[in-house]
Amino acid sequence: MAIDAANPVPPVRPRPAGEAQIGAHVPPELVRRTGMPFGEDFNAGPHAYMAALHQTQPPIFYDVSPMCNAWQLIKHEDALFALRHPEIFGNEGGSPFPRDHDDYFYLLPVEIDPPHHRKYRNIVDPLFSPQGVLKLEGKIRKLANDLIDEVIDKGECEFTTDFGRPLPVSVFLDLMGLPQDKRDTFVQWAINLLHTQDRALMVETMNLVTGYLKQVIAEKQANPDDGVISRIAHAEVDGRPMAPKEIFGFVFFLFIGGLDTVFAVLNNIWLWMAENPDRRQEIIGRPDDIDKVVEELLRRWGVTFSGRSVLQDFEMRGVQMKAGDRITCLLPACNFDPDVFPDPLKVDFDRPRKTILAFTVGVHSCMGAHLARLEIKIALQEWLKRIPDFRVKPGAVIEYKPGAVIGPESVPLVW
Ligand code: HEM
Repeated sequence: MAIDAANPVPPVRPRPAGEAQIGAHVPPELVRRTGMPFGEDFNAGPHAYMAALHQTQPPIFYDVSPMCNAWQLIKHEDALFALRHPEIFGNEGGSPFPRDHDDYFYLLPVEIDPPHHRKYRNIVDPLFSPQGVLKLEGKIRKLANDLIDEVIDKGECEFTTDFGRPLPVSVFLDLMGLPQDKRDTFVQWAINLLHTQDRALMVETMNLVTGYLKQVIAEKQANPDDGVISRIAHAEVDGRPMAPKEIFGFVFFLFIGGLDTVFAVLNNIWLWMAENPDRRQEIIGRPDDIDKVVEELLRRWGVTFSGRSVLQDFEMRGVQMKAGDRITCLLPACNFDPDVFPDPLKVDFDRPRKTILAFTVGVHSCMGAHLARLEIKIALQEWLKRIPDFRVKPGAVIEYKPGAVIGPESVPLVW
């Protein structure tokens, strides 16, 4: 069936979930119940857990979960193949966000595959290109310093709420044309959608987000500005104005994608720097290598995954997958594939350059990747210039927030 984002229909195939929906073609010896990404073992140390999968699991295994049963891909090579072949591993029904089946919409551009995908990306890609995001550099540096001003004399902070979240979220809200004074509400909505298995909470939050974004879109249609939402609200595809459902699905996905990811990477990096003063000094001592530093830190702290639907029966490494199955490319695990990144948990700024999967690859590679890289680079440069020496607050208990974006819940620091 041709995909028409202007007139979306719910996925024809429900996502397989739970014990009752393990297909007959799935060999019992490949079935696992890991509890990722909500289980205790996983959240005790998600990155170490995912690195260990290369010793504890076969390269492809079938994980059963109440949310979605899926083949888990942990080899770098396998994920690259899957992500670069959308005709086999597509994004139909790609996301678990609960949607009203009578008023369905696609999350654009992530749930649309070629040939339709590119026309949506073209609308906003220029704003997120390397040149596009460089225009934000001065603003991001100022914001980083304003946030540091607030805490530097106190000798302590809760990194997440004082710096890690407000920096990228404020940049993002300005870019989108959304009000800064609703920042905390937006963040809470993103948390409710990305970090829970509570369907009722997800549905309730979906209703709040939907009502709010529809109202914002209507305002931008009446009073255009230079933000991303306005640009989408006035965009054309195929020589016609975008339909309401295309506009909404695009704005909704950006809203979710932009709020909860960069901060998780920052939290992971700052926790590591707080615990590894020698490595922090190494970063300070290599200012000209900052881009290499950021890339290796992104490899080491991947925070999310790429899920796909199997569109045609396909065999990979001798494993028979059937149309309708789901796969998850466990991107952080792929970044720990020892065949590609020896001693994978070690942070090594001089690793030979290889494709990292933090932002996925292929048609759906992250649209915000250049922005995220720039924010992480500026955060490192400005923070380390002014607070070069810091550690985790004594007695602080670090806990990971379960869910689809991996990072410590809070990172209390002292200096
Ligand atoms: C370090 C921060 C970030 C990480 C690790 C990250 C990661 C990812 C990943 C893994 C995907 C692929 C999803 C899939 O395959 O299903 C993706 C897609 C996407 N991300 Fe990000 N992201 C980050 C920041 C951002 C930001 C700040 C924005 C928006 C401003 C953004 C917007 C998007 C969009 C629009 C897509 C869909 C692209 C498409 O389907 O063509 N991301 N991101």
